[in-house]
Amino acid sequence: MEYKMRTGTHKDCKMKLLFFLVVIKLCSGQYDPNVKPGKTSIVHLFEWKWEDIADECERYLGPNGFGGVQISPPNENLVITKPWRPWDERYQPVSYQLCTRSGNEEQFIDMVTRCNNAGVHIYVDTVINHMTGYGAGIGNSSTCGSYFNSGARDFPAVPYSFLDFSNYKCKSHSGGIENYNDPYQVRDCQLLGLLDLALEKDYVREKIAEYMNNLINIGVAGFRLDASKHMWPGDIKAILNRLEDLNTTWFSNGTRPFVYQEVIDLGGEAISASDYFGTGRVTEFKYGAKLGTVIRRWNGEKMAYLRNWGEGWGFMPSDRALVFVDNHDNQRGHGAGGSSILTFFESQLYKMAVGFMLAHPYGFTRVMSSYRWPRHFADGKDINNWMGPPSNPDGSTQPVTIKADTTCGNNWVCEHRWRQIKNMVIFRNVVDGQALTNWWDNGNNQIAFGRGNKGFIVFNNDDWDLDVTLNTGLPAGTYCDVISGQKQDTMCSGKKITVNKDSTAHFQISNTAEDPFVAIHVNAKL
Ligand SMILES: *[C@@H]1O[C@H](CO)[C@@H](O)[C@H](O)[C@H]1NC(C)=O
Ligand SMILES: *[C@@H]1O[C@H](CO)[C@@H](O)[C@H](O)[C@H]1NC(C)=O
Ligand SMILES: *[C@@H]1O[C@H](CO)[C@@H](O)[C@H](O)[C@H]1NC(C)=O
Repeated sequence: MEYKMRTGTHKDCKMKLLFFLVVIKLCSGQYDPNVKPGKTSIVHLFEWKWEDIADECERYLGPNGFGGVQISPPNENLVITKPWRPWDERYQPVSYQLCTRSGNEEQFIDMVTRCNNAGVHIYVDTVINHMTGYGAGIGNSSTCGSYFNSGARDFPAVPYSFLDFSNYKCKSHSGGIENYNDPYQVRDCQLLGLLDLALEKDYVREKIAEYMNNLINIGVAGFRLDASKHMWPGDIKAILNRLEDLNTTWFSNGTRPFVYQEVIDLGGEAISASDYFGTGRVTEFKYGAKLGTVIRRWNGEKMAYLRNWGEGWGFMPSDRALVFVDNHDNQRGHGAGGSSILTFFESQLYKMAVGFMLAHPYGFTRVMSSYRWPRHFADGKDINNWMGPPSNPDGSTQPVTIKADTTCGNNWVCEHRWRQIKNMVIFRNVVDGQALTNWWDNGNNQIAFGRGNKGFIVFNNDDWDLDVTLNTGLPAGTYCDVISGQKQDTMCSGKKITVNKDSTAHFQISNTAEDPFVAIHVNAKL
């Protein structure tokens, strides 16, 4: 692996080894999600507008314990008319100006400021591996009207010229990635025809770092690095070394940006997720693929087998993992995971999967929040999976409206507002730092586990009722089940569970219940 330490710079971890106290903080910084103490999850508000995100931080995410928001790429991108605009145009950068369908720079700054002030941090989806596709064209069909000529590899609004792309290094016949077992092709050739930046060049590294430092100064807390598998870890390291510490208006002095890298590794390829542990956390794509298989009970899988979920299933170390049930790619059949991935389209199984993820201590958790599209399968493929967010005839994105029952309108799904999911985000905060305890299973698809003396969860994914007395580890008292309802003042709108003096409690869950699981925690004690 190409991996050169820049021993000369002041941000070099190796040099910092000389100064023990700073080394731990600065070199482990990129693994720390930088959420406020007591918060444990972020939500991906896919394709939301900045003004809607700002409102959501203040009215919903802050008050309900969400730690942050992953936003769609904020930099200028290609405008594609198909005739409707697809979501993936945002993964075709034209410049680093903050100007997209989600909003302009002023709206971006307002969002970051208001979210930070509400205790909700912003994580930017950062597209730095490439620019637009080679065939994108000539002109100003871009979200800010910046001129570009993709065939000539000319992006004057950055500026990048043909000298800043890595096509000269690519050894494949077509110029694209033909063989995923060849790490040179995966890093040096064009991904899906997208113009691959020469990240080994100082100039290119500097332009990218300028963009990311602008975001840091505005107040973001970290970055998802899109297509990390297609970048050399040494190049990522060199770019991260150029980044400033986070803005001290909201973060303590010396805080490094959180970094999580999109590396799709389901095993069996030349490049593995562990190649990227030196530069930050990594997306664990095995998580959603396997959990979907288990909850669907495919291939003879059973929830009882989740007893050693995590590293025991061949996943990366928990402190390197960014985990999710589905993401914006694999919920529509893009990227990794295949048909086992659960999404809002199968809401009952989906809520169980997200509930399990948020109750289980493994990894740093990201909740998905989607928009609905008219899914239509032809030959096993969703032919509408390209469709962009709910939009007006002029291509502008429709606002997220909030109905009286707190759900969202205009085809925004708002999974994060589903009571069961929102309450499990709070559950995870309440049980933070507690080990997994009191595991129980029936050898099949009824399981339960606790998190120390703070919370307990029970699932019935069998085709018969669950009726069992279990040791919860919780203090005696009456608890409100946060799945069938929630605690409101001194009342409970859902099932009540009585925990006896010896910590045992009786659970009954019908297999035909709307949500066949129950979760209780000490903050929902009546
Ligand atoms: C693109 O260029 C044309 C012709 O110069 C101009 O009329 C148009 O306003 C430009 N579009 C944007 C979005 O700047
Ligand atoms: C940090 O944010 C504050 C508030 O928006 C701003 O005034 C300040 O300039 C920022 N700091 C840097 C270094 O950009
Ligand atoms: C923050 O850290 C810098 C060095 O990184 C130091 O010069 C400065 O005095 C510190 N500021 C505070 C308020 O601690």
